[in-house]
Amino acid sequence: MAEWSMDLDDADDARTALEAAYRHALSFHRGRGSLPPAATAGFGALMHAFGGPVPELGVPAGQVIEQLAAAAGPGLMGTAGPRFFGWVAGGSHPAGVAADWLTSVWGQNAACYEGAPAAAVAEQVAAQWLVDVLRLPRECSVGITTGATMSNFVCLAAARSALLQRVGWDVEADGMSGAPPITVFAGEEAHASVFAALRYLGFGERKVVRIACDSAGRMGVEALRAALAQCGGPHVVIAQAGHIMTGAFDPVEAIVRLTRERGGWLHVDGAFGLWARACPARAPLAAGVEFADSWATDAHKWLQAPYECGCAFVRDTDAHRRAMTMGAGYLPPAGSECIRDPLHYTPELSRRARGFALWALLRAFGRRGIAAMIERHCAMAQRLADRLGAEPGIEVLNEVELNQVVVRFGRHEPAARGDALTQATLERIRQAGICFAHGAHWRGRRVMRLSVIAWPTTGDDIDRSADSMIEAWRATRQAAACIEAACPSPAPCMDHAST
Ligand SMILES: Cc1ncc(COP(=O)(O)O)c(C=O)c1O
Repeated sequence: MAEWSMDLDDADDARTALEAAYRHALSFHRGRGSLPPAATAGFGALMHAFGGPVPELGVPAGQVIEQLAAAAGPGLMGTAGPRFFGWVAGGSHPAGVAADWLTSVWGQNAACYEGAPAAAVAEQVAAQWLVDVLRLPRECSVGITTGATMSNFVCLAAARSALLQRVGWDVEADGMSGAPPITVFAGEEAHASVFAALRYLGFGERKVVRIACDSAGRMGVEALRAALAQCGGPHVVIAQAGHIMTGAFDPVEAIVRLTRERGGWLHVDGAFGLWARACPARAPLAAGVEFADSWATDAHKWLQAPYECGCAFVRDTDAHRRAMTMGAGYLPPAGSECIRDPLHYTPELSRRARGFALWALLRAFGRRGIAAMIERHCAMAQRLADRLGAEPGIEVLNEVELNQVVVRFGRHEPAARGDALTQATLERIRQAGICFAHGAHWRGRRVMRLSVIAWPTTGDDIDRSADSMIEAWRATRQAAACIEAACPSPAPCMDHAST
């Protein structure tokens, strides 16, 4: 067999590869409504499909794309589909996906204007539009990151820089060793990424003063007041707009007052909840957020951008640039120039031109389209909660303020039995293959958590999903009752259904 050697300028091969990607993408997109919501292949099958020794010889790019599509297909989750309610996952809208394809084809390095003028300007404009849509202070600077984890990191790095500069310490030059201490206050139910960001920045997770929260995960104002009263020096307060389980908002207006009174820095982690500000009917949930000092959010959540697209907003642009900038003789300096170089706002130098997809999505939805989508998702989350909550034995644990629903199966059952029933029901829901629901441990209990946030989801998808979840619960309850009654029937029988 003749050896194939890669022709770096083979136009036919390039066309075959791009056309293959296009064909697979269209077929995936068209079939997304009927795709299984969870992967059908397990680890072993995927290792077999992708694995093997390092290829010695190359194959044409078109062939590689066919192989990739065949290997990945059974291992794909229905994240971009209409009945995927796991984690908090936007649905990769075609406007962003297509822009992202072009981003790869164009191969721009979005580090600076000089190297990628269109990418820098698209990002600059999209960043300004975002500030406007989210109704944040106009003077904010914006970093387009890989996600809210990195956005939390960027914002907290800026906080560190500003607070230490106020007490005469240059953390960028002199580091954290020997620096005046900064006390960090965060709700005990702040997102894991906040604690990770603090760790990366040398604050130490154990040193964070964790403020007690209410049953929905909201930070307690009196607990924060009491904790702040013990602190005399520089401090950061980290509030949350949208709890990962319940969607609840910390009482930001009160937190703003407390933090301002004492000269602290207020950061808001609003990975998905900050988008409530773009929807007039939900905006009151995030009232007062605009008075914070920094904000983290994700465009790959409610704006439906393809991964990875997060946003870090910082009111003190000098602190933002000081914390993130990189200097070298061949790079543009960080100034207050009207042309913005992205490299001064995130930890990366060479990077993907994420601004193209961001720009395309803001252009495609428009302010009103974003508001309508958010409201539709919130109304659908409420509908899902109402359907589930009306079924005997199912308990909805949260008040649905936004798009998140937390569910427990086996209402009034002892804790361990409720955990087992919840887990068994989750497994049946997955086996049924209508929708994807995610299990979690929360406040010592096994729960099902649902996030309604993907653009293709319709009311019909919600009803089909609710039917499937209720059916799974009834079958689980029936099977459990049969086992307890030592029923000889080989399958769950109706005799014990009402137990
Ligand atoms: C409140 C909150 N913060 C931060 C994150 C982390 O976001 P990412 O996974 O985009 O880094 C999430 C993710 O769901 C979140 O819900």
